[in-house]
Amino acid sequence: MAWQLRPSVELAHAALILTSSMLAACIPERDYEPRVIGGDPDRGRTALARYECGVCHVIPGIPDAVGRVGPALADYSHRSYVAGKFPNDPETLVRWIIDAPSMAPLTAMPAIAVTEQEAKDMAAYLYESRWP
Ligand code: HEC
Repeated sequence: MAWQLRPSVELAHAALILTSSMLAACIPERDYEPRVIGGDPDRGRTALARYECGVCHVIPGIPDAVGRVGPALADYSHRSYVAGKFPNDPETLVRWIIDAPSMAPLTAMPAIAVTEQEAKDMAAYLYESRWP
């Protein structure tokens, strides 16, 4: 009778493999490093410090950026989503930095009066930032 069980075990196995590959297909993997056209990570470092983003965020390489109000902003190029909602691409990240509440009205992240150039520079830095 044992031989009768085998096909169903194999079927279950196949179903499991199928389900996990389907699941993987739903979660976009980041296999590229986003580049912010016209963004300068060095200027971004200065801007992140000047606008005191670190009051609310942990950001590697930025002095005093130890805030816990918002999520830590490290390894940002590996994130699939901005704020867990929007595809993480350079345009979306720049928009978010300029005016997060216009994208997510209930967010606790404030709109900060930064120029588009400054937001691009900060985004460029965040995409390059790594945990030390
Ligand atoms: C008053 C606190 C506060 C300040 C200041 C602040 N943020 Fe935020 N930020 C937040 C919070 C809270 C969130 C989470 C928002 C959400 O998920 O809706 C957030 C989210 C983010 C995200 C998305 C994080 C993720 O997990 O995808 C980025 C990027 C970001 N902030 C960048 C910045 C930058 C750059 C500055 C400075 C120009 C800044 N923040 C200043 C509170 C702040």
